[in-house]
Amino acid sequence: MGKQILEGKRGIIFGALDSKSIAWKVAERCVDEGAQIVLTNAPVAMRFGEINELGAKLNAQIIPADATSLEDLENLLTKSQEILGGKMDFILHSIGMSVNVRKNKAYTDLNYDWMKTTFDVSAISFHKLMQVAMKLDAMNDWGSILALTYIAAQRTFPDYSEMAESKALLESFARSFGYHWAKKAHVRVNTISQSPTITTAGSGVKGFTDFFGYADKMSPLGNASAEACANYCVAMFSDLTRMVTMQNLFHDGGFSSMGMAPEILE
Ligand SMILES: NC(=O)c1ccc[n+]([C@@H]2O[C@H](COP(=O)([O-])OP(=O)(O)OC[C@H]3O[C@@H](n4cnc5c(N)ncnc54)[C@H](O)[C@@H]3O)[C@@H](O)[C@H]2O)c1
Repeated sequence: MGKQILEGKRGIIFGALDSKSIAWKVAERCVDEGAQIVLTNAPVAMRFGEINELGAKLNAQIIPADATSLEDLENLLTKSQEILGGKMDFILHSIGMSVNVRKNKAYTDLNYDWMKTTFDVSAISFHKLMQVAMKLDAMNDWGSILALTYIAAQRTFPDYSEMAESKALLESFARSFGYHWAKKAHVRVNTISQSPTITTAGSGVKGFTDFFGYADKMSPLGNASAEACANYCVAMFSDLTRMVTMQNLFHDGGFSSMGMAPEILE
């Protein structure tokens, strides 16, 4: 067997809730490729998620952390280094939640307190994670940090509501923090803009099933699956993509470059 491309690497995977989660597939693929990982999710997700099953299967420890809490993030990054025996080589931020969407608030009638929570959970948590990791000097040189995003950051998808602004903020944090990490330790920071995927967070968007079919027809390669996304994440965590940073990378079967697809009219 050839060398596994993440052999000897250590990483943290946020956001594996159940077997449909994109982060679940990423965790499995990282371990397949020889990485040692720590899994984390919000304390509340431990109760109804299936993360313990994944931890047992992958021989990975689980450290609960609310990604909006600096204290939880400090604990996570400190303990992960103890458990895995050194600094991290990669981190996946796979977190999204909109309070206004959950509560069915129309985009033209948003509750701003809820919006702040949405931004904190879905975007500011990414900055917090990177700031804490940098202060604790918890990343190895040439490490790789990824967050998952969606094309609603660039184009209007009405039912995506305030998550569109969350993703725009998330992508901007990747560019801005990516500069500082590159200068400090050659750490690269990117976002992967994934096709619609049937998961708990994805299905929370109104009309998701119809939209999933539409995006599949619009994309010449079809929608990218969670498994395909996991492969892309592994490539981005590996040493084969060392000069890629501060990018928003579309992983969408070609959707983002399409204007019109004849298949839609059939
Ligand atoms: N599913 C899609 O169609 C799709 C498309 C593009 C991008 N994405 C993005 O992919 C990422 C993963 O979503 P998914 O589709 O796998 O759904 P998911 O519901 O399986 O994952 C979302 C995760 O966020 C976690 N989370 C929520 N609040 C948190 C907090 N305060 N602290 C820590 N974790 C918290 C949840 O527990 C859950 O594990 C999200 O950023 C999502 O926006 C999803």
